[in-house]
Amino acid sequence: MTLPMEFPAQSLPARVRIHEVGPRDGLQNEKSQVPTDVKAEFIHRLAGAGLTTIEATSFVHPKWVPQLADAEDLFPRLADLQGVDLPVLVPNSRGLERAQALGATRIAVFASATETFAQRNLNRSVDESMAMFEPVVAAAKEARAHVRGYLSMCFGDPWEGAVPVHQVVAACRRLIDMGCDELSLGDTIGVATPGHVQELLSRLNEEGVPTDRLGVHFHDTYGQALANTLAALQHGVTTVDASAGGLGGCPYAKSATGNLATEDLVWMLAGLGIDTGVDLDKLVATSVWMAGELGRPSPSRTVTALSHKES
Ligand code: HMG
Ligand code: MG
Repeated sequence: MTLPMEFPAQSLPARVRIHEVGPRDGLQNEKSQVPTDVKAEFIHRLAGAGLTTIEATSFVHPKWVPQLADAEDLFPRLADLQGVDLPVLVPNSRGLERAQALGATRIAVFASATETFAQRNLNRSVDESMAMFEPVVAAAKEARAHVRGYLSMCFGDPWEGAVPVHQVVAACRRLIDMGCDELSLGDTIGVATPGHVQELLSRLNEEGVPTDRLGVHFHDTYGQALANTLAALQHGVTTVDASAGGLGGCPYAKSATGNLATEDLVWMLAGLGIDTGVDLDKLVATSVWMAGELGRPSPSRTVTALSHKES
């Protein structure tokens, strides 16, 4: 296996749970329709590389995200993946019904810290979208499902610019009070920097949201995703979202580019002696294969480096 030399740093977690979002956040943005067979193989290969939380798809309106319109066809093909959590995005009660009909036990609602993105992504104001999520979270908890609450535009918004930290904290509190088990703090357009990350985490703690219920979701638009991740780890965060090969973006925010690449994350964590359970060589092989299916190279530096390595 190809790994960096290991130099553990002090005061970092011993283990990080990677929440793999490639099949959902990555593929929701593809211009061409990725065949369901390819998606199913992608998820199986990710599981084979040791990822244990793989966000599989979204039960959103098929006209809003046609790339994931095959959710009903895809999800049952993953039934053999024992021991792998397969969360799915649901925006409303209709989405929850569709997901539960297929036996999904981990769902994610996705809110916005800003009005403009709430309108563009959910066709509703922030208040209206929170009202839409409330019965979804209540019904999911009633069914003993695990509920993740995403919050987008936590560090900046392409239409509104700077987003005040107190506005983000208030939206997070609403999701926690609603009953979300964990939150994922989305830097949808990749503008965060490490001090900003630590400030938001500290302010959330001050408002009673403990770090162990927080995950981070960085997009790498400005090349800050790994630095921001390290800042979050230093604060005690142990759940990090990443996308194999750095696939990704958001169809409703054009300035959202790829997510933090899972390979880049695994390389850094391995060097820090932090356990992820991921086999980097298998993961790189998966992203190289997926890049072939998509017809363009992976933007991940680690995938590029390891797939061109001298042997
Ligand atoms: P709407 O048009 O306002 O929906 O869309 P509606 O409630 O008015 O319903 C209209 C029709 O759609 C009805 O049908 C519903 O049944 C149907 P009719 O009665 O007219 O025949 N409908 C549905 N059908 C199937 N599945 C559903 C569903 N819901 C309604 N779930 C809606 C509102 C929320 C549905 C729409 O805006 C939507 O689907 N948005 C999804 C957008 C999306 O998926 N964005 C990407 C994910 S977020 C992201 O990527 C950010 C993240 O990565 C974090 C970060 O980076 O920041 C998570
Ligand atoms: Mg995202």
